Amino acid sequence: MSASIHVDARRPGTAISRNIYGHFSEHLGRCIYGGLFVGKDSPIPNVNGMRSDVVNALKKLEVPVLRWPGGCFADEYHWRDGIGPQEQRRRMVNTNWGGVVEDNSFGTHEFLELCRQIGCAPYINANVGSGNVREMAEWVEYLNSDGDSTVARERWANGSREPFHVKFWGVGNESWGCGGNMRPEFYADLYKQYQTFCRTYGRDRLYRIACGPSGDDTRWTEVLMERAGKHLDALTMHYYTVPGPWENKGSATGFTKEAYDITIEKANRIEAILESHLAVMDRFDPDHRVGLIIDEWGTWYDVEPGTNPGFLYQQNTMRDAMVAALSLNIFNAHADRLVMANIAQMVNVLQAVILTDGEKMLLTPTYHVFDLFRPHMDANLLGTAVFADTMANGVRQVSASASVKDGAVTVTAANLDFERETELVLNVEGKETAAVEGRILTGAPDAHNDFGSEHTVEPAPFTAFRRTERGLVLTLPACSVAALTFRA
Ligand code: AHR
Repeated sequence: MSASIHVDARRPGTAISRNIYGHFSEHLGRCIYGGLFVGKDSPIPNVNGMRSDVVNALKKLEVPVLRWPGGCFADEYHWRDGIGPQEQRRRMVNTNWGGVVEDNSFGTHEFLELCRQIGCAPYINANVGSGNVREMAEWVEYLNSDGDSTVARERWANGSREPFHVKFWGVGNESWGCGGNMRPEFYADLYKQYQTFCRTYGRDRLYRIACGPSGDDTRWTEVLMERAGKHLDALTMHYYTVPGPWENKGSATGFTKEAYDITIEKANRIEAILESHLAVMDRFDPDHRVGLIIDEWGTWYDVEPGTNPGFLYQQNTMRDAMVAALSLNIFNAHADRLVMANIAQMVNVLQAVILTDGEKMLLTPTYHVFDLFRPHMDANLLGTAVFADTMANGVRQVSASASVKDGAVTVTAANLDFERETELVLNVEGKETAAVEGRILTGAPDAHNDFGSEHTVEPAPFTAFRRTERGLVLTLPACSVAALTFRA
């Protein structure tokens, strides 16, 4: 098999927002508790309760933005339950996720401390479904007010004299489903009401994010844009790659070629879906003032045997790495309108970049894809044409994107095929390709890292290029993703 990629480096295009490489964390299973936060008294090394091993790995990834506290949990979350002395915080049952006790020991201050340690921007998704306007308005005031009000003083009393300067503000989550089962007309009205009272304090103009559609529901997008478009900065969409029916989604490991091919085909659908929403947005907003955010995406399989079904804990293989590479290449290509994306979820839940087991931690193949794609953050998109065979599942065998930053061109290319390698000819027009650095991530489709074998799947240096008159020639193994950077 052979394929070619042609990159035009002569005309750098739109900037790829670093926030496309964002993450999502919910009070779900062991994402927050045990995964990110262990508490100050834990024997697991931590700083102010945040696990040091996990924070250090996330810093290396240069995580740009983190969404919290949900997900479905967001519309049952009352922020005042999570501030003040730990022992006085309200206890609740997490009815969405596993029916476990939520003691609210991780709340607003802890989340902002986590973001500070990682070095990322906070994105808070506030409660519309079971909250009220005053509750949301006061959360914004608590976070951002630099005035001398009773609410701001509450924050001072809890140890933060300075405002937190939160910018990204989500108004409800999946309001068409777990966030209240609303009609788009009803949500659009509620959205306008709620956001009116989320004020600007000092220099902190909020970036207002409305709950967008589920999957391909373009009617939701249409109604929202028509009725509330001028009141929002961005709307969201959620898309999960689920290989099987909901009752039998399939295992994260030990899958067949057929399940692999279906997974890749379903992951690829995100492009047509996001384009269908962008087409609707274009009708109402031809100047592209409103952004699109995919604030939940990733694979969703059956939970690992023996684990709480409500915790959504799944392993992560090279198949997930391929889904990540394909998705991120698609996101880059739509960077003119896609302003953020948040993989679900950061640790121990769904397509996680990190798994933990007590004091142990491992990096998943998906983590390594995010690492390979780091040069794209805030780089300028380059026009990229891919010529490759179409696989039996209808997806092109090779997925790629390219960008330029500080004179260095980076091309990320994935061979999505289950078993066939491909010879690839790469041309970069307008750039000398003499000095090239490469890294590759590859393995059997269900290769993964586990506790006791944490380093089975890791990127390796990639230097097997040949310079020919046709361009740079290289062989991409089956199920692999490479990042090549040209510096000269
Ligand atoms: O990420 C898990 C759940 O999936 C989220 O809570 C919800 O928003 C979505 O349905």
